[in-house]
Amino acid sequence: MKAVTNCNQSGCLAYSRTEISDVPLLSCSEAMEKLKSFREKVKGKQQFLAMYSSIFGGITTDPAAMVIPMDDHMVHRGHGVFDTTAIIDGYLYELDQHLDRFIRSASTAKINPPYDRGTIRGILIQTVSASKCRNGTLRYWLSAGPGDFDLSPSGCHKSCLYAITIQDLSPINFRGVKVVTSNVPIKPPQFATTKSVNYLPNVLSKMEAEELGAFVGIWLDSDGFVAEGPSMNVAFVTKEKELVMPLCDKILSGCTAKRVLTLAESLVREGKLCGIRMKNVSVEEGKNADEMMLLGSGIMVRSVVQWDEQIIGCGKEGPITQTLLNLVVEDMKSTLPAVGTPVPY
Ligand SMILES: Cc1ncc(COP(=O)(O)O)c(C=O)c1O
Repeated sequence: MKAVTNCNQSGCLAYSRTEISDVPLLSCSEAMEKLKSFREKVKGKQQFLAMYSSIFGGITTDPAAMVIPMDDHMVHRGHGVFDTTAIIDGYLYELDQHLDRFIRSASTAKINPPYDRGTIRGILIQTVSASKCRNGTLRYWLSAGPGDFDLSPSGCHKSCLYAITIQDLSPINFRGVKVVTSNVPIKPPQFATTKSVNYLPNVLSKMEAEELGAFVGIWLDSDGFVAEGPSMNVAFVTKEKELVMPLCDKILSGCTAKRVLTLAESLVREGKLCGIRMKNVSVEEGKNADEMMLLGSGIMVRSVVQWDEQIIGCGKEGPITQTLLNLVVEDMKSTLPAVGTPVPY
């Protein structure tokens, strides 16, 4: 299409008839060709290796075909849920814990999965196997499915399952980060506890933080207690060396946070921590803690060295946080059935 420079009285760009007629009408194969060249042009640091879709009932390794229907209720109404599992050295880390939350989220969103849990699990493992990815991420969605563009999902034919394997070889980042208190409102508990695709507040919160030169924003709950970050939980090591974490009744119950609580028990036995507790954490307590950390599947364990204007501890990556990160990194290599699910390549 030609560049448009003329504006009408209201300041909007005005398109002439000739310019509109420049939009090509594409056949299915021409559209596929365009999708292919688009994918070749826009190569980022992540590679999309395989996608399963219950629409085509199979797996594709062609990124151009990794698409979902426009009329899927998840696309135009946000009626979908998702989850993520790390692929480490050919094992899926805590797959069952993520799968449990995925099924729970679907139930809250009133999405009846197209297959039973065992079948979904098998499809996810096969998708990773087909991708040949040994280190990366598996992301998966349950949507109300395609049908029409109405608000009600009653016209959706059948719920859908989508899954994608993403290769991302960025190394784990150990460096401490700065966070800010988020001004973007937190989601109400019913929605914050569900991992739905409605991440607009999370995206805006992340953007706001980046504009302020920070890594992420920290949400406070309706009572002013520390809640969570836009894609991670938060924990603190108090001056008394207690590991404290906000309760999960108003935020997403993170799989990483839960695992860290279990792994941290060894630090209590060694006397490095005096205890572990889930409780309401006030901003004052958080900002005066010896250590603050972010916990999530994407970042694993990340030290926070500054929250707003307050330097946390001595302004360096905390020793307990570092130890917890090392414990998680070790744990990710575990082949214990409850922790690592092997992928048969
Ligand atoms: C809002 C929110 N909180 C917390 C988490 C951390 O959860 P997990 O450790 O299971 O990745 C996530 C993960 O994406 C999230 O989106």
